[in-house]
Amino acid sequence: MSRFVLGNCVNVMTDFPANAVDFILTDPPYLVGFRDRQGREIAGDKTDEWLRPACGEMYRVLKKDSLMVSFYGWNRVDRFMGAWKAAGFKVVGHLVFTKNYSSKSAYVGYRHECAYILAKGRPRLPMHPLPDVLDWKYTGNRHHPTEKPVSSLQPLIESFTAPGGIVLDPFAGSASSCVAALQAGRRYIGIELMPEYHRAGTERLASVRRSMQRPAANDPVYPEAA
Ligand SMILES: C[S@@+](CC[C@H](N)C(=O)[O-])C[C@H]1O[C@@H](n2cnc3c(N)ncnc32)[C@H](O)[C@@H]1O
Repeated sequence: MSRFVLGNCVNVMTDFPANAVDFILTDPPYLVGFRDRQGREIAGDKTDEWLRPACGEMYRVLKKDSLMVSFYGWNRVDRFMGAWKAAGFKVVGHLVFTKNYSSKSAYVGYRHECAYILAKGRPRLPMHPLPDVLDWKYTGNRHHPTEKPVSSLQPLIESFTAPGGIVLDPFAGSASSCVAALQAGRRYIGIELMPEYHRAGTERLASVRRSMQRPAANDPVYPEAA
């Protein structure tokens, strides 16, 4: 059973049993006080009191010998790394997603996103490892001000989980990771604190489910045998 829960992930995860999920794919606040041109903000982006408790819970609920992929803010890497290591995670890889546009410019034009691959125990190696530099498509941020492209998330889920596995995203925003899990034939548990993003994600998941049940307009439709 998949679900997308409205709430504070630290509290929500406390009710989960230990060693319950197969993979964590998450995109926590980058701790930069984000605000977009339309004035949209995200919870937890100014202070980091949630970071260590959340990492502790993520480690507890992840199955032994499993992976977490976490995006992070490159200028706050010390805080993220400290929290992951304190929770027990081992660093086993790093991903760079290359953009063909700059999300911001300062000393350089910022054209990449990054994520660490973190292990609990000793996860099995995939048969065909992905490269650690991957493509990134601009989403338009229609559902969420920092929306991640499903096309970048789905290959990670397919590489690091088996069909039917449970993917957890405790900072799910508009549920991009849940959409990726759904399309990949995995189960998901998404958690989001802000009602507007939870609503956007809920509607998005319902729409993806409907489109998966309906054949595409140009699919051949065979009449039933007489
Ligand atoms: C970087 S955004 C994730 C965006 C998401 N990847 C998407 O594509 O829509 C991080 C999200 O975590 C949420 N958040 C912050 N603190 C939280 C908490 N304690 N529990 C659950 N969600 C939280 C924020 O409101 C924000 O929507």
